[in-house]
Amino acid sequence: MTTSDRPIFRPLTVRGVTLRNRIVMSPMTRMASPGGVPSEPMDAYYRRRAEHGVGLIVTEGIGVDHPTALGSGSLGEDNMPELHGDAAVARWREIVAGVHQAGGVIFPQLWHQGPIRAHRTGPYPELMSSRPSGLWGPRGGFSTVPEPYLEDMLAPTAPMTDEDIVDVIAGFARSAANARATGFDGIAVHGAHGYLPDAFFWHETNRRDDRWGGTALRERARFGAELVKAIRAEAGDMPIMFRYSQWKQQDYDGRLAQTPAELEGLLGALADAGVDIFDASTRYYHHAAFAGSPLTLAGWTRKLTGKTTMAVGGIGLLNELKDSFAGEVGTVNNVPDVEQRIEAGEFDLVGVGRSLIADPAWAEKVRAGEPFEPFHPRVLAAIH
Ligand SMILES: Cc1cc2nc3c(=O)[nH]c(=O)nc-3n(C[C@H](O)[C@H](O)[C@H](O)COP(=O)(O)O)c2cc1C
Repeated sequence: MTTSDRPIFRPLTVRGVTLRNRIVMSPMTRMASPGGVPSEPMDAYYRRRAEHGVGLIVTEGIGVDHPTALGSGSLGEDNMPELHGDAAVARWREIVAGVHQAGGVIFPQLWHQGPIRAHRTGPYPELMSSRPSGLWGPRGGFSTVPEPYLEDMLAPTAPMTDEDIVDVIAGFARSAANARATGFDGIAVHGAHGYLPDAFFWHETNRRDDRWGGTALRERARFGAELVKAIRAEAGDMPIMFRYSQWKQQDYDGRLAQTPAELEGLLGALADAGVDIFDASTRYYHHAAFAGSPLTLAGWTRKLTGKTTMAVGGIGLLNELKDSFAGEVGTVNNVPDVEQRIEAGEFDLVGVGRSLIADPAWAEKVRAGEPFEPFHPRVLAAIH
């Protein structure tokens, strides 16, 4: 097979946007945007991945235009970017232009931290965080969050009002409009890992009995669906990509859907609202999603929705995200397995996270069959 025939190097067009191959840079927070404005090195950082052949770059999480979108997260994160205000928009315009000059495609990941934002942090420290039912999540989940943070987060707060919910949705829509005006090629929504809108999806953080809640996952999907519709109204014909996950920072073993039928309730509502690409965020891309079938979460997502789908988690690496901060992570060439799955129609795209931080030329090395650079947490200290 010639390189261009290899499944991972086949182009793919979604809503008129052509990706030159199936390799996607997974969204990764880099904390290099003081005051919400990406710093100078972020320009070369994104452009370099495009120059080295990444098909689609999904940016780090970008706080949407809402006062409680960003603060310190569970790990004390800081200096995350925004996409509103003249300075931030101007910097993103330069970053997008650089990626385009290098032949790449780039989507911003729109992010609202919801219940995970530490209270009294971020640009509006006087505000408590936005939580569907005033809950952070259950005590005792399988989690790596530090104890002092957890203690502060466990106390219940006032649930979001109807007006609060409408305001957050409007904030996402404004950021989507800014993304379009800035020249981005599509919109990615962070709907995973316990943030908003995942906090509406998860029964542990959404106990509401109004139209934003319900006992069925399909009912709790409403916030996500309304959000996607509001983004669609601003995004015009741009592709919308939606990341969701079973796992949560509050509980790595947490689950939204116990069965494929439940999952269909969530994904069907999001697809009907206008999602073009699903990003099924897992820690290991190849693990079975439900008992009784070897199919992965990305595999189920594609089968249930028929939409373009991305798999992610552990591509090129031996262990998962939560285990990667202690020391070097060994590399593994699981690309042949990924390619077989693309060929078989299990999923369409692959998200590559830590491998692409460690090695900007990862996509070229896949093409050339060369060994990858291993990920070590110290590479996070600098933007390169
Ligand atoms: C440093 C770092 C920052 C991350 N930040 C985000 C983020 O902003 N948004 C998001 O959806 N996922 C984030 N993730 C998760 C990655 O997008 C990806 O799903 C995860 O690392 C698994 O892929 P990997 O095994 O290839 O690293 C982050 C991961 C890392 C390592």
